[in-house]
Parts: sequence; C-alpha cells; structure tokens
Amino acid sequence: MRMTVRGARLLHADRPGVLRPGLYEVRVGPDGRIARISPDGAAADPSAPPAAGVLVEADGGLLTAPFVEPHIHLDTALTAGDPRPNASGTLWEGIACWSARKRTLTREDVVARATEVLRWQAAQGVLHVRTHCDVTDPQLTALDALLEVRERVREFMTLQITAFPQEGILSFPDGEALLRAAVARGADVVGAIPHFEDTREDGVASLGIAFAVAEEHGLRVDAHCDEIDDEHSRFVEVLAALALRSGLRERATASHTTAMGSYGGAYSLKLQRLLARSGIGLVANPFANLNLQGRFDAYPKRRGLTQVKEMLAAGVNVAFGHDDVMDPWNALGTGNPLQTALVGLYAAQLTGADEIPEAYAMVTDRAARILGLTAAEYGIAEGAAGSFVVLPAPTPTEAIRRQVRPRYVVAHGKVVAQTPPAPTLLSWPGEEPAEVDFGRPHGEQGELP
Ligand code: FE2
Repeated sequence: MRMTVRGARLLHADRPGVLRPGLYEVRVGPDGRIARISPDGAAADPSAPPAAGVLVEADGGLLTAPFVEPHIHLDTALTAGDPRPNASGTLWEGIACWSARKRTLTREDVVARATEVLRWQAAQGVLHVRTHCDVTDPQLTALDALLEVRERVREFMTLQITAFPQEGILSFPDGEALLRAAVARGADVVGAIPHFEDTREDGVASLGIAFAVAEEHGLRVDAHCDEIDDEHSRFVEVLAALALRSGLRERATASHTTAMGSYGGAYSLKLQRLLARSGIGLVANPFANLNLQGRFDAYPKRRGLTQVKEMLAAGVNVAFGHDDVMDPWNALGTGNPLQTALVGLYAAQLTGADEIPEAYAMVTDRAARILGLTAAEYGIAEGAAGSFVVLPAPTPTEAIRRQVRPRYVVAHGKVVAQTPPAPTLLSWPGEEPAEVDFGRPHGEQGELP
C-alpha cells in the first residue's frame, strides 16, 4: 500500500452533501489507485489488514474527490496593475489594460504566472483545471507557454487548455486560422465568443466553426457565451442546438451566459427545456460577473449572473468557476474553490439546506463533468485515482461556512500539500485562554443536551 487514511467521513456517491454513516478507512495501492474503502478500525472490520504506507489521520474530517476548476484564465492571471491598474474596475478598462499588457507577453512570463497560480490551486486542493487561453495572437505565445506548463504538471494535475478567441473568430484578422493553429499545436478544448463578433450572423457562424473544428479533432467545446447584459444576446440556444445536432451534447459547455439573467419568463422556460435536452453544461463565474455586469444600469441594478437555480432545477449541469485571478478584471483572488462556492451560492440564492451542499458539488463533481473526467480519473471509489482532499470539517456545508483549507491534498496516493491546524486562542474574561473552533456548542446539528 502507498497510503492509508483513517477516520474519514465520506459522501454518498450520488447524493450531494449526504454523508455515509460512520467513519472510513481509505487505502491507496502502489499503482496510485484507491485499493480499498472500508469501515474504520479493526473493530468495525476485523478482516482489514493493518495500516500500510503513509498513514494519514483524518480525525473525522471529510474526504472527497479534489476540487475542480472549470474556468480560469491562467494567461492573464497575476497581471493586475501591470502596466497600470484598472481604476474603474469595468470590463472595458480591463480590456484596455490587457491590450497593453498583451503586447509585452513572453513565454517565460506566462509560464511563471500560470505556474504560480497552479501552485496556489494545488495547495488548496484543486487538481483538475480548465484554463482559457487567448489565441487572438499571431504568435500564440501564451498558448505555447501553457502547453509547456500542462506537460510539467501532468504527473499530478489535469490541465485542459481551451483555445479562446478573445477578440473573435470572424471579427479578428485570421481568427479562424489562429483557432485551428492552436488546436493543431495541442489545445484540448475549442472556444468561441459569439456575442463579441461584429454581427449576430457572425456570432452564429463562429459557433458553427468552433463545433466543426471540435468534431474534426474529437475535442470539446467551451464558449464564452452571452457574457453581456443584452437580453437579445441569445447564442446559448445556438450552442445547445449545435450540441444536440452534432452529438457533442455534454462535451459542450456555455460559460458565463450572463444575458440569461435578463431573459423573461417565456423565453427562459423554452431555454430550460432546450438546455436540458441538449445535455450541455453551464459554468457561472460569480466573481467576474457580479463585478463586471450591470454597469450600465441605474437602480434596480442587475447583478449579471446566469440562471443557476432554475437551470439546476431543470436538470442542467451547472458548475462554478473562479475565472480571473489578480488580473485586469478581478484584482483579488487566490484560486480558492470554497471562496468561489461561497460567493456563488449567495449570488445564486442557493441558501436552502439542501442547496448549500450543491454549491460544493459545483466546485467538485459537477465541475468534473464539465471537464469530462472519467470514473477512473475522478471520484472516491475502489479503482479510481487515489487523488482527494481531507478537510478539517465534517460536511460540505461546514467546509464552505468555515472556509477551511484542506488538511491534506493527495494526488495518486502522495501528499502534495498539507496545512497544519492553526488554532486561535481566545482569552475570554474570567476564563483560561481557549481555542475557538467556530463550531456550535451543541454540535453540528445544534442539538441541545
Ligand atoms: Fe472567462
């Protein structure tokens, strides 16, 4: 055995947020895969062999599959303030800042910044990442850099690179050729930005090109789609119809779709049915869109989020993404998935008792479906990859509420990050200094003695 984890709480595989009763022991074999999951301790399972390999004590903490980041921009990350800060915080000033910064890109610069953010993500338990990479650059500098980074981290992280035509496929000189060149060099996913194209017809045609390229190369599609407050921006229906007709279905994703936050009831109902039939996934990015949308509105002011709650209820797979990390569109962020889940669940009003654990699924299992991770690559089951997080919290809801960092991050049976407990001691009047754990005095359920 490579590793034995003792005393872990586990979730039901198909019921978000619902714990299996009792504590478990998880063993990872020499091949880096989960070899055995059994009730914890010899008393519970006398047939269990003695612990072997590296011993990890979960202390009743939750063990789940690692976090998955379905939408980030590693090529723009960590450029905030360079060459100048985005003083207004708006999308348009951000584009102007990035346009100036983009002219100074070098391979070493992109490698260094992307690697640093991936280090932050791994430290916080994110082991599967889909990044978008601007390919409206005749040199494809950032793409080449990210392809290099993808190989460097392959041993313990999945990095999917989306060829993202930030300035358009048809509205940028040689946009289609650059998209195709990016795919030829090794991009994993085909992007598009239909609402940014010059005309509606160009937008529709650009999605046609993205799907054609994806089908030719056996790739997935992930478009920045309807990231605008204009309620007439309706490219998500085009993307869903193409996903249905091409058979790409769940291999296609519409990211952002903020215009959906402005659609009326009749059209929304039509869309819910179409999206559910199509099988496509949605990625909502609460940090970027709470900030960037609604800037033209007087009060009442829209907050620019897609229809998260309604689409989940309709059976559509929806995940939360971080999007920008310290770049011209978001000066903050550390790539923390539990921060994304917290902000996302408040933004989408997923505050019902059963909805909060759903937000955890949106940065784990649901995001894994967006990336297309297989049962062998992702999940807590015998035979699956021995990659997981062990949290200092007993439930998904508590992990989000307390904003914990994983006690252990494990990739293929090897500890890649560990965060020792950092207790806060409070000297309350009349009492000896005591640790504050932010738990209720009567336990997780709040039961009275
Ligand atoms: Fe984005």
